[in-house]
Amino acid sequence: MKVAIFSSKSYDQEFLDAANTNYGHELVFFEPRLTAATAPLAKDFSVVCVFINDQLDAETLEILAAQGTQLVALRSAGFNNVDLVKAAELDLTIVRVPAYSPYAVAEHAVGMILMLNRKLYRAYNRVRDDNFSLEGLLGFDLHNCPVGIVGTGKIGQCFAQIMKGFGCQLFAYDPYPNPACIELGVTYIALDDLLAQAKIISLHCPLIPETHHIINAQTLAALQPGTMLINTSRGGLIDTPAAIGAIKSGQLGYLGIDVYEQEEHLFFEDLSDTVIQDDHFQLLQSFPNVLITAHQAFFTRNALENIANTTLSNIADFAAGCPCVNQVKLT
Ligand code: NAI
Repeated sequence: MKVAIFSSKSYDQEFLDAANTNYGHELVFFEPRLTAATAPLAKDFSVVCVFINDQLDAETLEILAAQGTQLVALRSAGFNNVDLVKAAELDLTIVRVPAYSPYAVAEHAVGMILMLNRKLYRAYNRVRDDNFSLEGLLGFDLHNCPVGIVGTGKIGQCFAQIMKGFGCQLFAYDPYPNPACIELGVTYIALDDLLAQAKIISLHCPLIPETHHIINAQTLAALQPGTMLINTSRGGLIDTPAAIGAIKSGQLGYLGIDVYEQEEHLFFEDLSDTVIQDDHFQLLQSFPNVLITAHQAFFTRNALENIANTTLSNIADFAAGCPCVNQVKLT
């Protein structure tokens, strides 16, 4: 099928081209993000392939449908950027890659914990500068540390598995407890209790209306002072101004984020010559106990191979008229 690939980077092209030797789709790569303004690039393409910061709002979907698009193939697990009601109304099929490497994301979350706790970013720079002082580098043992996991699906489960290896006490909140996590020794408790007990909290739930700003001024007030918060899920889970307030007051002792609510204006681009206009982002960057990575938790070779293969297989299923197990449906 003829596929317009938006937000494509050199690595997308490399992995999709390699996987396409098994499928033979006609792949055309476009660098811009998909928005209503760039949607005309996809004229006469029956398939549009997108990533997390492409905008599949009602306006864009209407343009795509009018131009002949039938299938939107997401190269991601999350689909919070798609207006599913409008897509259904326009008879557009949406498919996704539900799991490409939960290990990649969980391992990145753990990397952020180690980096923040042991101040590895400061230590690295100090030693390069021949400053061998330990002042300000004091950390805490992960052994026996109470860790709260919000969302124990595929990624949350991998995260629990790794943290179990450190000897942490594991707590979780998820409306649908995962038996594999219970077997690992995770104790499910109410969200309020998790917020009050955990010294480290890691978010692994999807961004849906119920989880939008699940971390807000009220929930931050329930934390133990100095708690570490890690978010590798979606930026919209955290109310950024409230988190900034909690960092200033010391309620949050550490913040590690791989995702940011306004990231579509920043991430995946080199803006090193630009004056960034997002004051909240700039403020976060200025704190010594905040670590920001630019949505790279998924970014491993294994994940990119899986994303490419599943995406092209989803498209092949659609072309063959077969039901696709990875179709996103309105619930
Ligand atoms: P999953 O669907 O396997 O698990 C999500 C879990 O969240 C489920 O167990 C579900 O019951 C739970 N959940 C739903 N509503 C909840 C609520 N109100 N409170 C607490 N838990 C709730 O998803 P998976 O694969 O584990 O991914 C989780 C999220 O990670 C994705 O939705 C996506 O946003 C994010 N992600 C981030 C990546 C990155 O590179 N930073 C890459 C891939 C995913």
